[in-house]
Amino acid sequence: MSVQRRFTKFLGLAAVGALTVGLAACSSGGDSADSADAGDLTTVGFVAVGPEGAWREANEKNIQETFTEDAGFELKYAPATNLDQKSQIDAFTSFVDEGVDVILLSATEASGWEDSLERAQEAEIPVILLDRGIDPDDPSLYITRIAPDNVEVASEVGAWAVEQFPDGGNYITLEGPAGVGVVNERNEGWDSSVDGSGLVEVAAQTANWSAEEGKSVTETLLKANNNNIQLIFAQNDEMGLGAAQAVEEAGLTPGVDVKIATIDGTKAAMQALADGQLSYVHEYNPLFGDTALDVVKKTLDGESVESYIIVPSEAFDSAEAAQAVLADRKY
Ligand code: AHR
Repeated sequence: MSVQRRFTKFLGLAAVGALTVGLAACSSGGDSADSADAGDLTTVGFVAVGPEGAWREANEKNIQETFTEDAGFELKYAPATNLDQKSQIDAFTSFVDEGVDVILLSATEASGWEDSLERAQEAEIPVILLDRGIDPDDPSLYITRIAPDNVEVASEVGAWAVEQFPDGGNYITLEGPAGVGVVNERNEGWDSSVDGSGLVEVAAQTANWSAEEGKSVTETLLKANNNNIQLIFAQNDEMGLGAAQAVEEAGLTPGVDVKIATIDGTKAAMQALADGQLSYVHEYNPLFGDTALDVVKKTLDGESVESYIIVPSEAFDSAEAAQAVLADRKY
């Protein structure tokens, strides 16, 4: 059942009790008692991940291109320093102290956000999660999470794998970094389809979203298993592209000896699918800036929104399917 969430702000009128009002689009400072001048911009603090790969670049570019001054926003972009959570928490704290109107958070780590989220709640600044979830998941501490459904996406990858290997086979999983929420969600979804099939996981190891590590980890695991690997589940495109290089350098043919499935759907992966190096690519659509803007406007106007807003994402299982979309691919 979807849950509707509403962000309301109490005026400090203790004598007459609290009166909940929806927030008009506020000028910076976030005080609902102030009527916003037409010229005031809504200030948005974006606690971002920063440089991480093609998916992240597309996602954060899309957010920045959506929350423009022409659209009535001042977007304050705060990418993490080297994916370090402390730098994100520091940026989050600064945005709360500054009194931005809303915070967008793409968390580098799933845990460790309770204090920050409670501070934002005390300051009556709504927080919207983009892409990454948090643990423990306390929905009272944020308005909504906007992301494709990792569990569903990964379960579809797993269902494709089971269909491809009716007689079973050995596979390895290349995971994102430990501690990142989407990694657990993708493992959960994959396992829900693959458990009980003839597919056997001989190894699971992080390759930290990177092509270079995807290649080196795959090289090591192929050697350790005498090349007796028929399938690779890479939790993002870059790791899968690196794995394809390792497969070729081991004298094996991607798509024939070893099938590789990835998640994201970036241009490079779609080209590799068209070329036969990858066998399956599930989109994890990063282009949800318009949805985020709609949610911010509704939230600040006191309208309710779903507690988890799922971004639709497509699956591509053949070279022909990839060719059909490559020319117009936006990321
Ligand atoms: O959280 C989304 C993941 O983070 C993407 O699948 C990956 O490419 C990115 O680094």
